[in-house]
Amino acid sequence: MAEFKLPKNSTINPGKNYSSSTSGKKRKKFHVYRYNPESGENPQLDTFDLDMDSCGPMILDALLKIKSELDPSLSLRRSCREGICGSCAMNINGRNVLACTTAIDDYAGDIHVYPLPHQPVIKDLVSDLDQFYKQHASVEPWIKSETIPAEDKERTQSVSDREKLDGLYECVMCACCSTSCPSYWWNSDKYLGPAALLAAYRWISDSRDEATQERLDELDDTFKLYRCHTIMNCTNACPKNLNPAKAIANIKKQISTNKLGG
Ligand code: SF4
Ligand code: SF4
Ligand code: FES
Repeated sequence: MAEFKLPKNSTINPGKNYSSSTSGKKRKKFHVYRYNPESGENPQLDTFDLDMDSCGPMILDALLKIKSELDPSLSLRRSCREGICGSCAMNINGRNVLACTTAIDDYAGDIHVYPLPHQPVIKDLVSDLDQFYKQHASVEPWIKSETIPAEDKERTQSVSDREKLDGLYECVMCACCSTSCPSYWWNSDKYLGPAALLAAYRWISDSRDEATQERLDELDDTFKLYRCHTIMNCTNACPKNLNPAKAIANIKKQISTNKLGG
């Protein structure tokens, strides 16, 4: 259930100040959320004053510079640095983004870096996404078909059926959408959230899948699906320019059309 007050141990205290080499003329301050559950201390906001002449252009470059030159204990997830793995999602100046595809020059002043909102924090910028992944698994994101394809043959689909999956299959599971959704903040224990529902719709839309009605029946639930109130934060947040809100609307439409016998 929703909690409207932060527990005392969530209050963010002022942290330490760090500065990289003073030789560069172009400088930028990064205020970074730090939390180490093993310390027993409250979270704190550390400030890193970086020399931009010796830093790459992306937010992830700055965080890796901090980690390699100023504080090796800074924890964050990253892998591909190309916007493909989805692991470097975090909140920069109030917006959920992928750190590796977000340019430092997009921000005029200081940069505030926080983990994804409304998720438990494992350490620093690393959110606990267990629930998010479980919800994704709950929509059974794989093909379900009783029909056995002819030996040595692939399951084919027409070009137009394949095109129906465009805008759905490209999701990188970064969680930027779900963690920017107010309905998900308040009811993430029961509402599946935009990322899992986009994945569900990807399989509902697949002409090769034979469990469409079963999938729709499973989603036809006050909390799992209908907690979406079309606020559209999810679509605004998606770094891959996908439209989870539209996918959710299409699921609702398909369920109601089926009920009306359409
Ligand atoms: S459209 Fe639905 S899923 Fe997207 S942010 Fe709004 S309530 Fe959440
Ligand atoms: S729909 Fe977009 S924001 Fe949501 S998990 Fe997929 S890629 Fe990330
Ligand atoms: S490091 Fe893979 S998406 Fe950013």
